[in-house]
Amino acid sequence: MTSQSPESSYNKKNPYSSALLVNQVLTEGSDKETRHFEFSLQGSGLTYEPGDSLGVVPTNCPDLIDDLLQTTGFTGSEKVTVGESESELRFALLHQLACTVLSKIQIKKFNQIAQVPELEEFLKIENKQDLVDYMWGRELIDLFKDYPLPNLTVSDFVGLLRPMPPRLYSIASSLSAHSDEVHLTVAVVRYDTYGRKRKGVCSSYLAERVGETIPCYFHPNKNFKLPEDEDIPIIMVGPGTGIAPFRAFIEERQKTGAKGRNWLFFGDRSQKTDYLYGNEWENYHKDGLLNRLDLAWSRDQDEKVYVQHKMLEKGAELWRWLEEGAVFYVCGDASRMAKDVDQALHTIAQEQGSMNEDDSAVWVKSLQKERRYLKDVY
Ligand SMILES: Cc1cc2nc3c(=O)[nH]c(=O)nc-3n(C[C@H](O)[C@H](O)[C@H](O)COP(=O)(O)OP(=O)(O)OC[C@H]3O[C@@H](n4cnc5c(N)ncnc54)[C@H](O)[C@@H]3O)c2cc1C
Ligand SMILES: NC(=O)c1ccc[n+]([C@@H]2O[C@H](COP(=O)([O-])OP(=O)(O)OC[C@H]3O[C@@H](n4cnc5c(N)ncnc54)[C@H](OP(=O)(O)O)[C@@H]3O)[C@@H](O)[C@H]2O)c1
Repeated sequence: MTSQSPESSYNKKNPYSSALLVNQVLTEGSDKETRHFEFSLQGSGLTYEPGDSLGVVPTNCPDLIDDLLQTTGFTGSEKVTVGESESELRFALLHQLACTVLSKIQIKKFNQIAQVPELEEFLKIENKQDLVDYMWGRELIDLFKDYPLPNLTVSDFVGLLRPMPPRLYSIASSLSAHSDEVHLTVAVVRYDTYGRKRKGVCSSYLAERVGETIPCYFHPNKNFKLPEDEDIPIIMVGPGTGIAPFRAFIEERQKTGAKGRNWLFFGDRSQKTDYLYGNEWENYHKDGLLNRLDLAWSRDQDEKVYVQHKMLEKGAELWRWLEEGAVFYVCGDASRMAKDVDQALHTIAQEQGSMNEDDSAVWVKSLQKERRYLKDVY
């Protein structure tokens, strides 16, 4: 099976309009919102493999754009040119331009026009941390609210904005199990800062504003694939939305009748409300397709329990699987989780393989070199 048939003309610049089939909350009763999506590929000729991602081209929230227009004093009907295309400003802000995330470069360009002494101070190299502190939790609209620019021209305004970047999502389905469909698992980003309710552009687009179709394209990932030899055991570590590709992996292994053993480490806040695809995992475990299932609920007791704690608890067996040639996969948060899981692997090598720190580092590197330690982290 190849990802995206060669004749396909769909890509980032020319996305496919895929029909929305399902938009379902997986975390009913939780203070976190994670959703399951299903989209149709019927008639598209598009294909993908477990481990690939889907790129989604979002639209900005109209309420935010109206607020931004009001703050900057534009009507929205001004004519603007973005790339090759001409449109009205409101259309460009909704569909073509990134209007939330604030960057240093943007503040620099803004201040070439605004000439605000305070911003000039922030932009000095020695005040780097002050700038980081200012930007944290703020978006583009805050800059215009904090430092109004009454004489801004529309072309200067548009010149401050970069093109809307698509967002990638790890695919949560196998085509063998769901022909002509692609599934996603999306954590909806919502938070409150400086008295405003904020939402992530793409996750809130999918959750709230998606119409009958979404613009999307496939992003193959040859570095995160099931082993070609179906007898090889796999160990999957995927807390939170990191679970997505492993749903695809296990569906694929079920369909192909792969004999290799499967071990999943999953974790989230609470078993009652955040057990993503819990019924599916429990059934796979009962049926024996999932040989081992270890769960870490971080908020079901006083102390935090994370996937790496479960790995360490099962260190002897995990070590045995790895010695027997298992491939180790990790997916999800890059900033903390993946680093801690990596550290747990080092610790297991030291405790179970009687290695010192340096030897364990060499061993982990060799796993990576042999392509038996694969990451899809973000
Ligand atoms: C290969 C890959 C695979 C991925 N797979 C998945 C997946 O399967 N599921 C999934 O949900 N995501 C996945 N992601 C992440 C996804 O691409 C998006 O980054 C995510 O959905 C957020 O995008 P957004 O447009 O909703 O938020 P954006 O509009 O991009 O906003 C995110 C920004 O908001 C700010 N922010 C967020 N929370 C807070 C807070 N509490 N306080 C202050 N500021 C905050 C931060 O600056 C953050 O960078 C993946 C990413 C990659 C690269
Ligand atoms: N708006 C919100 O309230 C909110 C909340 C979380 C995530 N998000 C967004 O959602 C996306 C990711 O969500 P997600 O579902 O994939 O993951 P996640 O919610 O960040 O975390 C999933 C699980 O991993 C735990 N965890 C935290 N730190 C860890 C570590 N160092 N090692 C191992 N596990 C750890 C979490 O525990 P604890 O959380 O109990 O520590 C939770 O049980 C990001 O885009 C993030 O910005 C938003």
